[in-house]
Amino acid sequence: MTKQGMTPEQAANLSMAEQHEWFRRATSRRAMLRGGLVGAGTAIVGAAGLSGTASAAPLRSAASLLPTADRPTGSTVVPFGRHISFGADPTRQMSVAWQATNSVRNPFVRIGRSPRDLGEKLHADVRVLSTLASDTSPIDSVALVSPSTVEQYYLHASLNGLRPGETYYYTVGHDGWDPRANLAVVNSFTTAPSKRGPFTFTAFGDQGISYDAVATTHLIAGQHPAFHLHAGDVSYAEGTGHGLITDSYDPKVWDSFFQQVEAVAATVPWQVASGNHEMEPWYSADGNGGLAARFDFAGQQNTYYSFSYGNVGVITLDANDVSYEIPSGNGYTGGKQTAWLKQELAALRKRADIDFIVVQFHHCAYSTCSSHASEGGVRQYWTPLFDAYAVDLVINGHNHVYERTDPLKAGKVTTAAPSGATVTPATQGTTYVVAGGAGNSLYSFPAKDSYDGAVDDVSPIASFVNEPGQTKTAESVTWSRVRYTGYCLLAIDSAPAARGRTSKLTVRAIDGFGAEIDRVVLARTAK
Ligand SMILES: [Fe+2]
Ligand SMILES: [Fe+2]
Repeated sequence: MTKQGMTPEQAANLSMAEQHEWFRRATSRRAMLRGGLVGAGTAIVGAAGLSGTASAAPLRSAASLLPTADRPTGSTVVPFGRHISFGADPTRQMSVAWQATNSVRNPFVRIGRSPRDLGEKLHADVRVLSTLASDTSPIDSVALVSPSTVEQYYLHASLNGLRPGETYYYTVGHDGWDPRANLAVVNSFTTAPSKRGPFTFTAFGDQGISYDAVATTHLIAGQHPAFHLHAGDVSYAEGTGHGLITDSYDPKVWDSFFQQVEAVAATVPWQVASGNHEMEPWYSADGNGGLAARFDFAGQQNTYYSFSYGNVGVITLDANDVSYEIPSGNGYTGGKQTAWLKQELAALRKRADIDFIVVQFHHCAYSTCSSHASEGGVRQYWTPLFDAYAVDLVINGHNHVYERTDPLKAGKVTTAAPSGATVTPATQGTTYVVAGGAGNSLYSFPAKDSYDGAVDDVSPIASFVNEPGQTKTAESVTWSRVRYTGYCLLAIDSAPAARGRTSKLTVRAIDGFGAEIDRVVLARTAK
């Protein structure tokens, strides 16, 4: 099927930037013919601006764009989809984001140290995504006819100057909807402490919207995590996942997504990675304009970014940049991301307060899962750097299963690490975990499952690596230690030690019912 006069085959021959440019020209022609206000796939930003990732999109003020007739007034528009993320300094900065179903004036956050003592209005910026309904593939059985444009209003407030290790309460509103006058939803968050201490964080990827996703999302809350890592394939609004302008796309799926996760994401900072289902060529030349309108990246301007919490440094990468399997984003940073990764790893390893380095991204460095197996681009560009800086833990998604490797150096097993084992990454190398069972439909393995309580060691396993030209090269795998076909999340406990003693990072895998299926302890001498 063709869409907008282009076939998927033609789209596959274009880079992400070329697709966006073609789409921008095609839609502006159509908009002119119709006398419309704006072309599809437009990112419109408020006063503070969107990140540079959407800079190629035409910028207009939301006020000049939107029709005013018949629009609900502020008093009937209720904020929803609250989600928070760290600023650049998690001890002092937090970003609060939410959504409104219609345009609102003067969106704001009130924040305080007690739910009964919230402060003055703090300004929020609006980021609008405008998508012509005719350019979407709605999941509704009957397509939207009127209005002809899907407008999504995301509000973002950057909170600065917070105190470390402090719990704050907040509520959000806009002109006509002041939480002081309405029965308001009040949420809380806690900033990172300035001193070393134990904490837990969680992670998963490939969530989507489903009752299984509801289950895993709410299992996060039961772990009381300091933050949550999302390894990509977030909502599946981009249903095809090829990063092509001809892919199926229903932006309103994101509305359901934010509603699904709000109870957790309003309180726990969510730090997302871009998966192949986040490449949205409609909004920007790099395909990231949609994600940048919906999320914040720890105060940084790219879908690759880092932050530290206590004794753990966390790096999030955008693996669309190196994927051979799904190449529409391949090379889009021109090597900048990999150069940045090397600098970040070197900087984190030098810090005396950082024991462990955790890296998350979407496509798997090492997996035997039948669907996508391993990504050769990740092995070409990144795993040599993980070896060089002895990265402790890598978290991936993309394959909708749970899998953990033995610790690896240069792709070789250094020691067997069954569930319950202790690994010393400084000498034994990196542990790679796939945690892609957050809620989207599950995939399968070519070998039997093997996990805590149901160990069934199989080795070697016949698998493959995705290579240039979208070829698959067979490989015989001996590193697949734990496999589980089911919904899951990771809960990771950090227990820092005094200098010269052993800090521990305990990686627990939890199934969709809350039972533990795998555990490995990473141990490192504190500097
Ligand atoms: Fe996925
Ligand atoms: Fe994926």
